[in-house]
Amino acid sequence: MSKIESILTESRVFNASEQLKKRVALTESDIAQLYAKAGKDHVGFWSDLAREKLAWSKPFTIGLDDSNAPHFKWFSDGKLNASYNCIDRHLETKSDKLAIIFEADDGKVVRYTYKELHDQVCRFANTLVAQGIQKGDRVVIYMPMIPQAVIAMQACARIGAIHSVVFGGFSAESLRDRIDDTGAKLVITANAGRRGGKIIPLKKAVDDALEKGGDHVRKVIVFRRTNDDVAMKAGRDIDWYEAEAGMSNYHDPVMVDSEHPLFLLYTSGSTGKPKGVQHSTGGYLLNAHVTNEWMFDLSEQDVFWCTADVGWITGHTYVTYGPLSVGATILMFEGVPTYPDAGRFWQICQDHGVTIFYTAPTAIRALMKFGSELPSQYDLSKLRILGTVGEPINPEAWIWYYHEIGGGRCPIIDTWWQTETGAHMLAPFPVTPLKPGSCAKALPGIDAAIVNESGQALEANEGGLLVIKKPWPSMIRTVWGDDARYQKTYFPMMDTIKDGASCYVVGDSAYQDEDGYFWILGRVDDVLNVSGHRLGTMEIESALVSHPKVAEAAVVGRPDEIKGEAISAFVVLNVDIPTEDSEQASLVQELRTWVAKEIGAIAKPDDIRFGTNLPKTRSGKIMRRLLKTLARGEEIVQDTSTLEDPSVLEQFK
Ligand code: WT7
Repeated sequence: MSKIESILTESRVFNASEQLKKRVALTESDIAQLYAKAGKDHVGFWSDLAREKLAWSKPFTIGLDDSNAPHFKWFSDGKLNASYNCIDRHLETKSDKLAIIFEADDGKVVRYTYKELHDQVCRFANTLVAQGIQKGDRVVIYMPMIPQAVIAMQACARIGAIHSVVFGGFSAESLRDRIDDTGAKLVITANAGRRGGKIIPLKKAVDDALEKGGDHVRKVIVFRRTNDDVAMKAGRDIDWYEAEAGMSNYHDPVMVDSEHPLFLLYTSGSTGKPKGVQHSTGGYLLNAHVTNEWMFDLSEQDVFWCTADVGWITGHTYVTYGPLSVGATILMFEGVPTYPDAGRFWQICQDHGVTIFYTAPTAIRALMKFGSELPSQYDLSKLRILGTVGEPINPEAWIWYYHEIGGGRCPIIDTWWQTETGAHMLAPFPVTPLKPGSCAKALPGIDAAIVNESGQALEANEGGLLVIKKPWPSMIRTVWGDDARYQKTYFPMMDTIKDGASCYVVGDSAYQDEDGYFWILGRVDDVLNVSGHRLGTMEIESALVSHPKVAEAAVVGRPDEIKGEAISAFVVLNVDIPTEDSEQASLVQELRTWVAKEIGAIAKPDDIRFGTNLPKTRSGKIMRRLLKTLARGEEIVQDTSTLEDPSVLEQFK
């Protein structure tokens, strides 16, 4: 067994020190009170928090509206504006306080106070209005990890436009699918981005995407991040600064209904095209705000660095919205952890006095490989809380993070959540006793359980489906344009069990130990988790099949020490399988490059094998279990008698 799996039986418990307990805002008794209150009155608990933590232009009187379950509404007769909550409400007391510290790939630093951020967001909001964007219009943002990405998101929120950020690593094809699905009127991009000393063209992908789609896109705003030339299409493309010229630094935020969609964010499922996860304004912002306070003890004094790109939900909730709503300083970094060397993260923590650091297990494992020498060269003494997200963290990486980065004094906050949940769902508070590899317990107001397929609760230590049994404010509202898919995917027990219409099925399997701690086992469907990113096998398969030489493809995951899961592809060609090794290798290379172009480099298969047929049952169903066994290089012990043609297994070995 691999090193990661072999130590998964973890029994260590790490208790918070007295020092830590004294320092954090929430004591154990405060937390007990939160749980007690939420247990007694679920809706009242969230409603009181919504009144206390957010600024409403029109107070709400309705807490939860469940009349159209599973499409729940929270605080539905209230009005507010997300950008006002993240920026304007802090101006009176901290207009000169830093909102954003930005470190560029090349080390240059730019700082924005709350006042400066306000002015930039207002100017850009006015620009969007001048370009014809109104409340409810969709705007696609395809940007590098630079402050203008946050400014663009906040400006959309300010005018009530619905943004949909597409990760800059996605290809033109993936971008086009998303643009088309949103029906966006406007795309915001940059000519290029910089990562690890390299120039990454972005505008080019937008041009390619719009060549064959996006007929509804009228304008493209282009931020010039580098001096590289960029082709501009007359009448459609406008330079960011030219568009902004003459715009006022003031914009009156458009107050929207609490349920008004704040954004769409696309995520993979096991079948079909990516789903546009629709989030609300009020409910989303509430959980974004409180989870930053609860899990990270975030306050105005902190410099908070979440390393996620704004193209993922983590970059929405723990970069653009939550920490600013709390009034903290966020750090944004454009580059990669290994450039100019693998000490970059630790150098940034030192130079900017980062107090809270939030990253993914895959990054920790990658940096751990370089040893403890690098982090020990930097002063990491300001760090007080460390977070992790994206996949289960293996105890070995947990322990390294705890000692080598946190100096044994910072709790590791392992946060389980999803694009669809909007914010943390299962996670420890800083004072909670920690078990490496477990994301501890459900948050107050989050009713999580482990059940079997018929919705019956399971015993401690029994693995089953993770479900959330009551609606919570930041939950997904629907799949954009596809209510039926929303219901089918997330509420499959709607018609089969009592209260099934409020039983959100997560798609992960997990168990709870005898102390009630949750341990995530993995996805139940065929979705891969590669470096903390959810990728649909289906999407990768269709990318492969779109190659002229490929007839059929099946993709499965196999455990990988750094990435969590690696991608194995099984391919049937419509030409002869090359007999020469070198020819085979070059075809493998060709297909990998193809997938990178179709979806993005993160989806590149790690290995590709060829056969004359896929292992299918007589009814034509691909036997993925067998492929997984082959991908891991294990002997097949499963029953293969239902296979149409058992000989194909030999070819793929
Ligand atoms: C899936 C959600 C939430 C932002 C990152 C990914 C896995 C996430 C953990 C964790 C174990 C985790 C789950 C989940 N996952 N965090 N702390 N421990 N697994 O968002 O792309 O929506 O993926 O990531 O499988 O369902 P996403």
